[in-house]
Amino acid sequence: MTDPRRLKIALVGCGGIAKAHWRGIQAHVPELWVTAVVDADATRAADMAAETGGQPFASLEQALAEGDFDAVDIMLPHNLHEDAAILAFRAGKHVVLEKPMATTLDGCEQIMAAAMRAGTVFMVAEQAAYWPDAQKIRQLLKEGVIGEVITARAYFGGAVGSGWGSKPWRYDKNITGGGICIDGGAHWIRPLRMWLGEIDEVVAVIGHPLAEMEGESLAHALFRFQSGIVATFDALHAGSFIGPGAEFRVTGTQGELVVEKGSDGRLLLYNKENPDGQLLLANKKEGRDAAFGYELSDFAHAVLDGTALQAGPEDSLGELRTALAIYRSAETGCWEKVWA
Ligand SMILES: NC(=O)c1ccc[n+]([C@@H]2O[C@H](COP(=O)([O-])OP(=O)(O)OC[C@H]3O[C@@H](n4cnc5c(N)ncnc54)[C@H](O)[C@@H]3O)[C@@H](O)[C@H]2O)c1
Repeated sequence: MTDPRRLKIALVGCGGIAKAHWRGIQAHVPELWVTAVVDADATRAADMAAETGGQPFASLEQALAEGDFDAVDIMLPHNLHEDAAILAFRAGKHVVLEKPMATTLDGCEQIMAAAMRAGTVFMVAEQAAYWPDAQKIRQLLKEGVIGEVITARAYFGGAVGSGWGSKPWRYDKNITGGGICIDGGAHWIRPLRMWLGEIDEVVAVIGHPLAEMEGESLAHALFRFQSGIVATFDALHAGSFIGPGAEFRVTGTQGELVVEKGSDGRLLLYNKENPDGQLLLANKKEGRDAAFGYELSDFAHAVLDGTALQAGPEDSLGELRTALAIYRSAETGCWEKVWA
């Protein structure tokens, strides 16, 4: 039976991130009703069907022909995003698509053109936009809590564990379109854009310390924002251990905001009144896990109520464009424009 307050959705790709999306739906999005699940791996589709109650399918084509849903949540390896999204738009579905939109800007153009033709809702899932710590910093910067922003530093680093080892596609540049910058690095680029505005140009070097990964597993980059502010972006996947430190530092004329690394990392404010740091948010992991629910809630409300998404498709290209500019700069050794 159709309930106008609920949106029937198919989960397409039942791997690691699908589990996070499903937990987010269960906890935060009663408006989403999973009626179909799709995976080429029959065991994964069956397991997700048992979890969600959705009907299992082996392919998106089969699900579109036989399933009962109005939206799709595409969570496939990057090289499959373009075809899957276009197929779904041709069938008149609303689409939420895991980052990156596609592996090339041309692919993104094709998807956005298909979305326009369909006239349905299109969202690129970038949960960092919904991280409570990222949103809190945006609000504090607006309030001038650290005065004028001087600079910011983002560091995305981690040892690559068994989770990645079981996903060989993430090491294959033909599938991912790059390395750490086009993939997880996106979650560190979006908050910088939320806080400092649009990135104008980047200069970068990249490296390959992780032998098994074809794409870059190291990047050191400078981002110059349209405001003139310069920030650093460092990203590293290492096969060894990585010590504690900060994920983000935003430094202003009157203080500094720091997000600590690690799942129990905190958001702290350092200023004249708080030279040892004032705790603003504890245990960021809880909020970051919930962010998958918040992003899917944004999508559901855009479809059901016509509300505006936090970031439309063009806007959400910012992370991919930045990653591609990093790759160009690593080749040319020059500053490269992000939006040109
Ligand atoms: N937002 C985040 O924090 C985050 C984290 C991890 C991954 N991701 C993104 O999510 C997407 C999927 O990543 P993942 O880590 O879940 O990968 P995964 O390998 O765990 O899952 C992908 C699933 O797709 C299935 N699949 C592959 N080809 C298929 C096809 N042709 N038809 C149907 N099913 C097919 C695989 O069997 C697998 O179950 C990627 O875009 C990735 O960048 C986002």
